[in-house]
Amino acid sequence: MTAIKIAPSFLTADFGRLADEVRAVEEAGADCLHIDIMDGHFVPPIALGAVVVAAMRRATKLPLEVHLMVEAPERQVASFAEAGGDLLTIHVEATDDVATVISQIKDLGCQAGVGLSPPTPASTIDSVVADVDQILVMGVNPGWGGQSLIPETFAKLQELRQLLSRRGLTTDIELDGGVKLDNAAACATAGASVLVAGSVVFNDSAPPAQNMAALREALSAAEAKG
Ligand code: DX5
Ligand code: ZN
Repeated sequence: MTAIKIAPSFLTADFGRLADEVRAVEEAGADCLHIDIMDGHFVPPIALGAVVVAAMRRATKLPLEVHLMVEAPERQVASFAEAGGDLLTIHVEATDDVATVISQIKDLGCQAGVGLSPPTPASTIDSVVADVDQILVMGVNPGWGGQSLIPETFAKLQELRQLLSRRGLTTDIELDGGVKLDNAAACATAGASVLVAGSVVFNDSAPPAQNMAALREALSAAEAKG
């Protein structure tokens, strides 16, 4: 198995010290940074915006992936590209024309991702899998960090990985939500190649660097198995 990528998510980070939090996970070997955008419609909370993406862009050279939990993402993608997002992920449930928004994202010079909420079947993205750079599978209902992984997610990861390999694709599958030290290896074995790590990295128990190291250690078993 190739190395699993870790994408820290900042919802539970200390925003008063955002640049320090970014630096801590960068130094601890984060592969990219995951920024959650919530509009109060697609999900109940409102969280973050293009100004935060721009601030993070100034704080790091790491790739920034912007997770757009917003209705009508076609109206928002340009401002997040402008702010410095490298990969923009939209939800298949959030727009009537996913393929057109994916083209729009690519025309803006960004990579494109498509996300699936827990109730949405893997087959929903069949027609666009060949056009995206990453597939995001929600392991929890979107809206909040710190929830428990929904167990059905494992079967969905397996199904998507099979769907991709039938087509000869090795597209990254990112698992977002519910990643913990005790399930990270199983998520990777089921087919995730990128793990979003929110509360497992940013919490009150230990500093981010120590938490990142513990996550890498937890993943090494799955990586060694190949
Ligand atoms: C939830 C967000 C996730 C979340 C992950 O709607 O998309 O990125 O912050 O947090 P944890 O890792 O704590 O589940
Ligand atoms: Zn997210």
